[in-house]
Amino acid sequence: MRPRISVIGLGYVGLCTAVCFASKGFHVYGMDVDVERINSLSQGRSRTYEPQLQHHLNKALKTHLFQPTVDSELAVEKSDVTFVSVGTPSLEDGSIDLTYVKQSSAAIGASLKNKPKWHLVVVRSTVVPTTCDSVVKPVIEETSGKPCGPEWGLCMNPEFLREGSAIYDTLCPDRIIIGEYDERSGSALDNLYRSFFHRKIPTKRMSMVNAELVKYANNAFLAMKVSFANMTANLCETLPTADVGVVTSAIGLDKRIGQGFLRAGLGYGGSCFPKDIKALTAFGREKNIDLPLVHATVEINEKQPFRSIDLAEKLIGSLSGKRISVLGLAFKPDTDDMREAVSIPIIKDLLQRHANVVVYDPKAIAQARRIFEGSITYAESAVECIRGSDVCILVTEWESFKDLKPKEFAKLMKHPAIVDGRRLLDPSQFSRVKYASVGLGSNHKTGTP
Ligand code: NAD
Ligand code: UGA
Repeated sequence: MRPRISVIGLGYVGLCTAVCFASKGFHVYGMDVDVERINSLSQGRSRTYEPQLQHHLNKALKTHLFQPTVDSELAVEKSDVTFVSVGTPSLEDGSIDLTYVKQSSAAIGASLKNKPKWHLVVVRSTVVPTTCDSVVKPVIEETSGKPCGPEWGLCMNPEFLREGSAIYDTLCPDRIIIGEYDERSGSALDNLYRSFFHRKIPTKRMSMVNAELVKYANNAFLAMKVSFANMTANLCETLPTADVGVVTSAIGLDKRIGQGFLRAGLGYGGSCFPKDIKALTAFGREKNIDLPLVHATVEINEKQPFRSIDLAEKLIGSLSGKRISVLGLAFKPDTDDMREAVSIPIIKDLLQRHANVVVYDPKAIAQARRIFEGSITYAESAVECIRGSDVCILVTEWESFKDLKPKEFAKLMKHPAIVDGRRLLDPSQFSRVKYASVGLGSNHKTGTP
């Protein structure tokens, strides 16, 4: 018989895990402490915008394979495997806040107390090295009164999904990392994934601490690639015919480097890279180990959003009193998530310069209203956003912004001037208007011979 699944924490990761398991015919109990979240999920409403998520949620509820609940005891008791995907935010000093991990571990332990059957606990939350061994295991052992191993199993199974393609990534991961407390736990999870995927996904089994490290090293390496591309972009801007896109796509052809995560722009944001890098830095501090590549990655990233301000000033001079249109607010396209989005420091800086800011995003306007309230103007379309503005800064690379043609900018803007912060537009089409792009020399016919 197929194992029954419970998922504790139904945020981005948990909900995607839950509905994807349900879509493959597994019975899933999804538990969250947020009553409102559970109520809206039960009514088929996901509070998160994510492509395909609503479709999978509808399907999971229709087949009755997904049962949202606030009852952790029910979820654990009725299932064979429990995935933990609660949040792991930052404390004020940047180190990881394990409050939710501890609370959910305690709830799982309490539920395991009277459960006669062996049960597998799988940590999917991103946690710093040794957390599974020194926090999750002792908390569950204490609250259940049962030793890990013979009575219940434990795995650390990091999640690598990206927002905006979360469902695809859950159904088609590059690899599965199984950090196992013991052989039985690792084999149980390995077998579960074999029945979930129906094909062999490259799987690496290792110790829990190595799995914890894999997750942080993975995110830090990807963030470092982005910062490397941005550092190269800044160099390119000092050379009239240089183009960072030409340079990074050429180095990316070297298989040892690879094409991924070399898109120069205004820096990385989101709920993960910034938070995880802070946690890694704090962990290094605790262990008395300097992590200079990580520091440099952060330093480059913190400065990068302001390249858009420098470029705007180069095009039109002082921004004070000017109408600035900001296209894109979400930290990346295909999400409404504005956590640590680079649009935030950019808009704050523009406001400090006494600019009039008008913004548009296809999905993130509601989030932006919560952050900026009445200090900026919210447009209902990209066209409305650029109308009458002195300079337009493109901050998030939504595909729909490609529909804006140079003629439209020329017709709608007061003085057409565009800063392409994400290298979305084709510079060769903008040769007749004031145009600047991250990573592009001042001769914007591009560096291609
Ligand atoms: P999230 O903030 O969207 O959701 C976390 C959920 O956990 C919330 O719904 C919250 O109510 C719930 N929760 C908190 N305490 C709980 C408890 N004691 N019992 C039950 N539910 C509880 O977080 P997320 O983005 O899904 O991230 C979860 C974890 O996965 C984090 O460690 C994160 O770093 C990691 N991760 C996230 C992503 C991503 O793209 N968002 C990708 C990979 C890994
Ligand atoms: C990232 C990782 O890609 C996931 O593998 C990981 O699971 C997740 O963090 C996590 O640990 O939570 P995510 O933050 O959703 O996923 O999105 P990414 O596609 O990685 O983008 C992160 C940021 O980097 C975005 O702001 C994006 O605009 C920026 N980026 C990305 C670039 O500026 N250039 C690139 O080439 C790639």
